[in-house]
Amino acid sequence: MIKSDEPINELQETLAVFSKLYDTCTCPNHFHPWWFLSIKLGTLGSQHYVSPFVEELVDPWLSKPANILIAGAADTASLDLLSAMNSGNNWRFTIVDLCEAPLQQTREFAAQNDLALNTERCDVSAASFDEQFDLIFVFYTMSFMEAEQQLSFLLHMKRALARDGKMICALKYSDQAKADDALREQALEEKHQTALCYFADYPEVHPHLEAIWHSNQGNRRETARREALMHEADIKRLASQTGLRVTESVDISHLKKPWKGDGDSRTQLVLSLEHDE
Ligand SMILES: C[S@@+](CC[C@H](N)C(=O)[O-])C[C@H]1O[C@@H](n2cnc3c(N)ncnc32)[C@H](O)[C@@H]1O
Repeated sequence: MIKSDEPINELQETLAVFSKLYDTCTCPNHFHPWWFLSIKLGTLGSQHYVSPFVEELVDPWLSKPANILIAGAADTASLDLLSAMNSGNNWRFTIVDLCEAPLQQTREFAAQNDLALNTERCDVSAASFDEQFDLIFVFYTMSFMEAEQQLSFLLHMKRALARDGKMICALKYSDQAKADDALREQALEEKHQTALCYFADYPEVHPHLEAIWHSNQGNRRETARREALMHEADIKRLASQTGLRVTESVDISHLKKPWKGDGDSRTQLVLSLEHDE
């Protein structure tokens, strides 16, 4: 058992999780070990801070059985925040992700917390399910997709969504992707230096840190480019092409983030989508 007053043990535990994610992550850019370290070092945050908004949007389901899909997980945060809302512990979860690393993490989390969970490694923009879901959660996963893939994704989600179900979709976008470039590059470099300092006593990890930071620099640029093309109006248009309708839109840009600011001026929205009758 790690005690909070024993930093060396916490460091060793972080190293163990990092190494496991480094080995199990199948993303070409080592996204999952990078994501884990960024959250661990406080340079990024998990989506727990959206919890009050999401809870309000899914209020009718909170105390009754429901079939839930989490489309793209990154880590255990979505499962943690959603399962905590469900007072009767009677939701059944399915998590899909392109990468095995978050699926393994969420299976371990579900076993420890007595949650009903199926995981499937697949491309959610081409996935077919033999069941339908009352609630579908998409926390920023659309930032990983090009416009054509977003359309295919929404089509597949429409098929997967129960007739009276709801899809909750969090997204970020920027009107000034270019202007943010320099700040983002600087923030990435600071994150890299923070990680090198954190693992100062473990020089054998440094080549792995170099690898993940370099590949994620390209990744963040690509994400910024896609986010610049993904305004609320674009999602509304794509949704209407698939027979879905945005029924609610909550701007959460003003929310204070529980992690260090890094010049992030993106607009953040939580959209609710339902079948368009
Ligand atoms: C931005 S992360 C989710 C973020 C996280 N839920 C949060 O905000 O804390 C997106 C996740 O979706 C996965 N992903 C991206 N594109 C995907 C696709 N086409 N099919 C399935 N999973 C995908 C990535 O591997 C990653 O784990």
